[in-house]
Amino acid sequence: MRTVELGKTGEKIPVIGQGTWGLARWKSAEYYQQWKRVLHLGISLGMTHIDTAEAYGMGVAERIVGEVVKEYPRDDLFITSKLLPFRVFHNSMKKAAYRSLERLQLDYFDLYLVHWPNPIISIEKHMKVLEELVEEGKTRFIGVSNYSVNQVETAMRALKKHELATNQVKASVVAQEHLSDLPLYQKETVTLTAYSPLGHKGLTNIRDDLRTKLVLLGEKYNTTIQQIALSWLVSMEGVITIPKTVALDHVRANAQAAEIVLSSEEIDMLFQDAR
Ligand SMILES: NC(=O)c1ccc[n+]([C@@H]2O[C@H](COP(=O)([O-])OP(=O)(O)OC[C@H]3O[C@@H](n4cnc5c(N)ncnc54)[C@H](OP(=O)(O)O)[C@@H]3O)[C@@H](O)[C@H]2O)c1
Repeated sequence: MRTVELGKTGEKIPVIGQGTWGLARWKSAEYYQQWKRVLHLGISLGMTHIDTAEAYGMGVAERIVGEVVKEYPRDDLFITSKLLPFRVFHNSMKKAAYRSLERLQLDYFDLYLVHWPNPIISIEKHMKVLEELVEEGKTRFIGVSNYSVNQVETAMRALKKHELATNQVKASVVAQEHLSDLPLYQKETVTLTAYSPLGHKGLTNIRDDLRTKLVLLGEKYNTTIQQIALSWLVSMEGVITIPKTVALDHVRANAQAAEIVLSSEEIDMLFQDAR
């Protein structure tokens, strides 16, 4: 698995990790077993970055991830989780982070994010909580999710001692808006983590012209259109991604996608607007 530096942290992170949104509550034992098989296989293939959140399945995703990751040496894995931003009080935010760690059976996160901005809570307040969690040893690195570029800049200014490692945003061949901000992230050395890299539905229903281009590149590299869509993202400097799957074949395919590096002409070919 190819790795890149996360922000300015000095930490190497796999360009393709594993998402866990969709791990729902009240499902069968077999359903949870399948998720665990998928996560184990992904880890064995180098997708050691696992992205979760307290919001996913109201804590169920963190519990399942916890049951998987306890079977590995802690340093072999990179675990990201996220704070639900509707809490108003400083203490309740901190407690939410501690509860996430309990569910994950971990002493610390590798990366902890504010899940999305909340207009009634200042960015400064959220950044203070994140920095305190670093000071307490509860997370190694910090970041945000679903922030605009302006909000990222405000967050960077608000941080006193620690750097912002990433902004996790929706980005894929079918949702390209945030990728136009990539030069800014590259200049500031903030990693762009692309979520929903397969358009959330596995690119099952896409425009014909886009499909044609993906198929063309797929033929050249002998891969599926989904693999091309993932490799497109991680062929760009400063971009990592976290596809989600419950299918073992797709885990293998997603790991392989990291090995395809598209040329700059091929990257441009899949942008909607001329760059
Ligand atoms: N920060 C945020 O606000 C936020 C929001 C959304 C998502 N996320 C994170 O990003 C992760 C990924 O996004 P997502 O779950 O929205 O969806 P996604 O990864 O864009 O797409 C998932 C869909 O793609 C299919 N798929 C996966 N690999 C495939 C392959 N190789 N070939 C064909 N189909 C494939 C899956 O089906 P199968 O299961 O059948 O393979 C599933 O239907 C989430 O799980 C979560 O961790 C974060």
